[in-house]
Amino acid sequence: MDTKIVRITDKEQLKDEELLEAARILREGGLVAFPTETVYGLGGNALDEHASEKIYAAKGRPSDNPLIAHISCMEELPALVREVPEAGRRLAEAYWPGPLTMIFRKRDEVPYETTGGLETVAVRMPSDPVASRLIRLAGVPVAAPSANTSGRPSPTRAEHVIEDLNGKIDMIIDGGQVGIGVESTIVDVSGETPVLLRPGAVTMEMLEAVLGRVDIDPAITGPVSADIKPKAPGMKYRHYAPKAEMVLVEGEMEQVVRYINQETKKAQKEGKTVGIICTEESRNLYPEGILEVIGSREHEETVAHNLFAVLREFDNRKVDCIFSESFSRDQLGQAIMNRLCKAAGYHIVKV
Ligand code: TXA
Ligand code: MG
Repeated sequence: MDTKIVRITDKEQLKDEELLEAARILREGGLVAFPTETVYGLGGNALDEHASEKIYAAKGRPSDNPLIAHISCMEELPALVREVPEAGRRLAEAYWPGPLTMIFRKRDEVPYETTGGLETVAVRMPSDPVASRLIRLAGVPVAAPSANTSGRPSPTRAEHVIEDLNGKIDMIIDGGQVGIGVESTIVDVSGETPVLLRPGAVTMEMLEAVLGRVDIDPAITGPVSADIKPKAPGMKYRHYAPKAEMVLVEGEMEQVVRYINQETKKAQKEGKTVGIICTEESRNLYPEGILEVIGSREHEETVAHNLFAVLREFDNRKVDCIFSESFSRDQLGQAIMNRLCKAAGYHIVKV
């Protein structure tokens, strides 16, 4: 299949004409990758089971891992969900449009192909102008998982999408680099107490400020054992896996740097190529290894922004192992550490 690539020159001066063809493709059951404020999404009509099947096929994704349906305004929500509980209404008011996904009880019209067989549906209203305008013009809710091949880091630039999906989908809209860089926060509001299923840029602190009590799904903090069924089925897969073996090193900065330097030397003696994930603050402390600066500790949003691109860069440079510094687990750090822990397959060394 020929994949058409459309470049958006100026998001702030976006014109409908730039997105009409993409909107038509979505309406007619085709697939279009597009930018959102979190990561690039691979979109298809959420109410068309064949479009959802095509999404799974293009990504190579297991079909029991449900998709998020994207909307452009509150009026589009009732077509997807049976009810909007109080918690959902309050979160929508506070954080939509934005990097927040909520789980609701689904209406019968939402096919099981979209929800991975579940009775619930995940819904998000993105704030990115391209995403928002495209959904509105399509006139249908848009199912969109991250636009990567299953198991690879989520795409934060159009080039990442091209790497993974060129030739497999109808169109890729290039809207430049995304802003946030990690996927949306997911909160299940379909039960008694809201549950955080995936941390993101709408932080636990921000959720609690609106809702009071929020529970945390255990799949967020540790590896999921075979006998536990995580509430977000996607959390059980080893996501974001770089090709190299990755070790996350936690502790006082000085010890972390010493440990990484010592292990780097050892690995190099064995003939291995070593990648190191460091920060602006520590970049001068590593004499050996291939360095990737993930961002600045002073501005944690830069770390989220660069995280997946750094993992992809190490894939391209074919390193054998990666040592990464770690981050605090509060605020945005919870999302950052969740993604890094998963990339490392929970291989964490405390020094
Ligand atoms: O930021 C994002 O959310 C991006 C952009 C494109 O919007 N999308 C995204 O989709 O990250 P995806 O498919 O890569 O991740 C969706 C996650 C999966 O872990 C899935 O298991 C969970 O949402 N999910 C979807 N529907 C669910 C449901 N009904 N109940 C529980 N978890 C659900
Ligand atoms: Mg994904």
